[in-house]
Amino acid sequence: MFSRLRIAVAPCALACRGAHTKEKGKLLMLNPRTNKGMAFTLKERQMLGLQGLLPPKIETQDIQAMRFHRNLAKMTDPLEKYIYIMGIQERNEKLFYRVLQDDIERLMPIVYTPTVGLACTHYGHIFRRPKGLFIAITDRGHVRSIIGNWPENDVKAVVVTDGERILGLGDLGVYGMGIPVGKLCLYTACAGIRPDKCLPVCIDVGTDNQTLLQDPFYMGLYQKRDRSQLYDDLIDEFMEAIIDRYGQSTLIQFEDFGNHNAFRFLRKYREKYCTFNDDIQGTAAVALAGLLAAQKVIGKPLTEHRILFLGAGEAALGIANLIIMAMVEGGLSMEEAHKKIWMFDKFGLLVQGREQKVDANQEPFSHPAPDQMPKTFLDAVNVLQPSAIIGVAGAGRLFSHDVIQAMGSINQRPIIFALSNPTAKAECTAEDAYTLTEGRCLFASGSPFEPVKLSDGRVFRPGQGNNAYIFPGVALAVVLSGVRHISDKVFLEAAKTLTAQLSEEELSQGRLYPRLSNIREVSINIAVKVMEYLYANHMAFHYPEPKDKNQYIRSNVWSNEYDSFLPDLYDWPASISYPPKMQ
Ligand SMILES: *[C@@H]1O[C@H](CO)[C@@H](O)[C@H](O)[C@H]1NC(C)=O
Repeated sequence: MFSRLRIAVAPCALACRGAHTKEKGKLLMLNPRTNKGMAFTLKERQMLGLQGLLPPKIETQDIQAMRFHRNLAKMTDPLEKYIYIMGIQERNEKLFYRVLQDDIERLMPIVYTPTVGLACTHYGHIFRRPKGLFIAITDRGHVRSIIGNWPENDVKAVVVTDGERILGLGDLGVYGMGIPVGKLCLYTACAGIRPDKCLPVCIDVGTDNQTLLQDPFYMGLYQKRDRSQLYDDLIDEFMEAIIDRYGQSTLIQFEDFGNHNAFRFLRKYREKYCTFNDDIQGTAAVALAGLLAAQKVIGKPLTEHRILFLGAGEAALGIANLIIMAMVEGGLSMEEAHKKIWMFDKFGLLVQGREQKVDANQEPFSHPAPDQMPKTFLDAVNVLQPSAIIGVAGAGRLFSHDVIQAMGSINQRPIIFALSNPTAKAECTAEDAYTLTEGRCLFASGSPFEPVKLSDGRVFRPGQGNNAYIFPGVALAVVLSGVRHISDKVFLEAAKTLTAQLSEEELSQGRLYPRLSNIREVSINIAVKVMEYLYANHMAFHYPEPKDKNQYIRSNVWSNEYDSFLPDLYDWPASISYPPKMQ
């Protein structure tokens, strides 16, 4: 009788109360999705054939989590912490997320940037168990059957990389798998998306990294990157195979592709699949959110700012175009909005008719040359008198002391965003920005900086434009709404919601982003707003439309509390209503 009850299967949306399993005994413990370690209750141990396979003590998750926190606290090497914490994921998934969520502010830099980057450079050396799905160029023609090997039947979100541009580290080939794995950990930790609905994928088309091609522990094909038509065909085949198995509304997030391919694929697939690129769209949303917060602190609408970018590449264009969208909502015409934004690249200011080439995407930001044509970035600041400078050139400390001081004398509250990653590539340090403006600047960076203490004792906490503020919440809304294409407006909505969550007090301290410790709540609120937007604009295809989106999202969020594997026997008869004639 018991064995029959155990097999009962409950239909689950994204979350599910009582759990059911067909597995018994040792297999239950070997599966990280069902393993609870010593937290299996006495009844479960007796009914599921676990008695004696565990030490006699029945442990709570609290005690289990404490064990890991204590051990983590003893470790000083971030890579060692990474190996340790990812090991929990391989053994006990619920406990892994419990530990991660307990201390997300401190552990996010381990499972995500910057430590995940370090882990990727050593991926073959620290390898324990494979995670995610590997698809090699030699698998062309068989991608459908490889995806068929994935053990989960109801994947909702895929994060895919080809390893060509891993963070600021370069081409790491198959070692890049650490990135989709880490990103999806944040899908679950930050937004409560069920881990079994998430699929990390690494596409292996070779690597141009000589170190890896000579590394005996490298895990991919020992060949140069295939840049031929075969590469495009493989990605096409992959996209088709994913929706073939998991449906048209499966979210496919592109991550850490080379710049050229990132933009190319976004354009190619955005109208055809449910896809976004976090490096482009997520980054733009976080930068815009910082700007919206700064504008609130200063008390001057975004439409009255003049913004000067250092860098005119795809990151700059992504951010600028989202700012334009916000300015147009604020009442400006497209043309007026473009006039508020200037760009300065390695050849100098983008102006009409300049000698060096300006491409079609940059065209709207090339303005008539000012009377005095600036030669350096400092000249440009002095001539254009911007209220904000945004650095995305990835070329090091180009916001010199003179530049920062000039911004400080032009503006009461200058906005200085040094967004290039990693820390060594940031356009300036937080310390320089605050000290050289006597603490008046509104500063944000891409990589984290320590708080800065000025000589007068005031302490400033630099804002980190961490993409983790945006993508998990957006993904949660997209997955729950049944979206076919993701419009840029979704990222505008997410940015606005992120800013709206700063309290008056936080704004008065010059904080540009909410605390990371609050990320779960932040992500859920973003998801609610985005979901409302999606339905209001006929972009959601999951019906019936949930009336109360807030309640709907919260009831679908995954919890790291252990499930009980025992049916409550006494509830059964009570819930069955017998037809009268049977009584
Ligand atoms: C090549 O790989 C090594 C080892 O993973 C890494 O440290 C390095 O940054 C990579 N270099 C480039 C240029 O991609």
